[in-house]
Amino acid sequence: MKAKTNGTLLSAALISLSGLVLAQSQPPRPPGPGTQPPPAGQRPPPPQQGMRPAQRTQTPQTTQADMGNPLQPRFGDPLPGITTAERAAFVNGRNEFLNRENPAGGLGPIFNRDSCVACHGGPAPGGGSPINVTRFGTLTNGVFDPLTALGGSLLQERSITPQSREVVPPQALIRARRNSTPLFGLGLIEAIPDVTILAGVRTTPVDGVKGKASMVIDVTSGQARVGRFGWKAQQATLLAFSGDAYVNEMGITNRFFPTENAPNGDTAKLAAADQVADPEDTIDPANGKADIDRSADFMRLLAPPPPVTLSASAAQGRNVFNQVNCHLCHTPTMMSGDSPVAALRNKAVNLYSDLLLHDMGTLGDRIVQGDASGTEMKTPPLWGLRASAPYLHDGRAPNVDAAIRAHDGEAKGSRDRYNALTPAQKQQLLDFLNSI
Ligand code: HEC
Ligand code: HEC
Repeated sequence: MKAKTNGTLLSAALISLSGLVLAQSQPPRPPGPGTQPPPAGQRPPPPQQGMRPAQRTQTPQTTQADMGNPLQPRFGDPLPGITTAERAAFVNGRNEFLNRENPAGGLGPIFNRDSCVACHGGPAPGGGSPINVTRFGTLTNGVFDPLTALGGSLLQERSITPQSREVVPPQALIRARRNSTPLFGLGLIEAIPDVTILAGVRTTPVDGVKGKASMVIDVTSGQARVGRFGWKAQQATLLAFSGDAYVNEMGITNRFFPTENAPNGDTAKLAAADQVADPEDTIDPANGKADIDRSADFMRLLAPPPPVTLSASAAQGRNVFNQVNCHLCHTPTMMSGDSPVAALRNKAVNLYSDLLLHDMGTLGDRIVQGDASGTEMKTPPLWGLRASAPYLHDGRAPNVDAAIRAHDGEAKGSRDRYNALTPAQKQQLLDFLNSI
């Protein structure tokens, strides 16, 4: 998530470590004490000095959701139709996703939260939350400057010692918030071939809508890929996003992102607070996986949001959705391609996104990131919308209506058509959006 730890150059040497290793996994263990993750939004306990040099503990938890239920799927279930070994990888990965890290295990020195689930917990592990992270930068001679030397563009708002705290520096004239997104169904999105996404780019705009693919070098393969994860489509694979999140949200260095973030770029402050050798996340010989791999397994095998049967009104709303051109960006369905996981292979993915960047005019967050300009944002998937309020990249919209009315730029035509709908048509559209 942080431009300065892009890690592109490392990637070539690390290709062999990437890939999906789902075969090995440990049997679930009985629950241990003190392993419950905090509810989203709760502050972690104050950092302690001289904590016991604990291993980064695992949090075994098995629930009935591990079996999934194809008849009554729920948020947080594993994908239907996965193998026993894949289910074990899902449970093992979820334990890591729920695990609370501590300084002895590598947390910090600067970080945002101490577990993935702290920001991705609603309505089930792997969801989103109203928690925002802060990005900052400035304009130097009219060009965006992420203030990398001062710790930008991502702020880590917490620290393991008071002396190592990072703040938004006074030089930062641009400040943006980014809302935590839900992760349901991301394995299917990962399995959509680059060519399928590229095919959505329009050379001749339709109703002002064009779209642009975000090309990134995927740190796990060293290859140029179409980015699709994050508000700016800044990562192409779940393993890359996992490594990025471990270092940038929790301060845990790993094989793809081996360098700690220095508080506001101050390496002396970093050295004074950092007691754990890098990389902090290493491969466990028992199962051949590091924590970044286990969390990626969990996200990859997480089922998409369970759709609701459309009411008559919602079925009408689907027509309205197409009539006012929402579908020009929020593509209802794309097909996944090949995948080592049969349950992800050649599936219809009802995501309601083209995974492209669009110029959103005044709705942009002014942060330049990779191929995305200050006004360009990725079309977010709309599946599961009923469980992911608040909306838009900074969570400014408390409901779906407000989110649509804030559309601008390439979406201006569509937004104006929405505004011109009768109250009854608007209700039908909202009923539809609440069912997908
Ligand atoms: C402090 C809150 C926070 C924590 C902790 C956190 N995330 Fe996130 N996550 C976010 C935010 C905010 C975004 C959107 C970031 C962006 O696009 O700039 C995000 C986005 C993502 C995405 C992209 C989702 C999509 O649909 O495009 C993935 C994948 C992800 N996080 C995985 C993880 C993993 C794995 C962990 C644990 C290592 C983690 N996150 C920890 C806040 C958090
Ligand atoms: C030009 C492409 C485009 C069109 C057309 C478009 N959208 Fe969007 N939509 C986006 C982008 C990009 C975002 C994210 C913007 C941001 O947060 O900065 C978004 C965000 C949203 C969100 C918030 C999603 C979330 O998870 O926060 C909703 C809801 C939404 N759009 C619904 C609609 C509806 C309904 C229509 C038709 C009236 C529509 N959009 C038309 C591109 C488009």
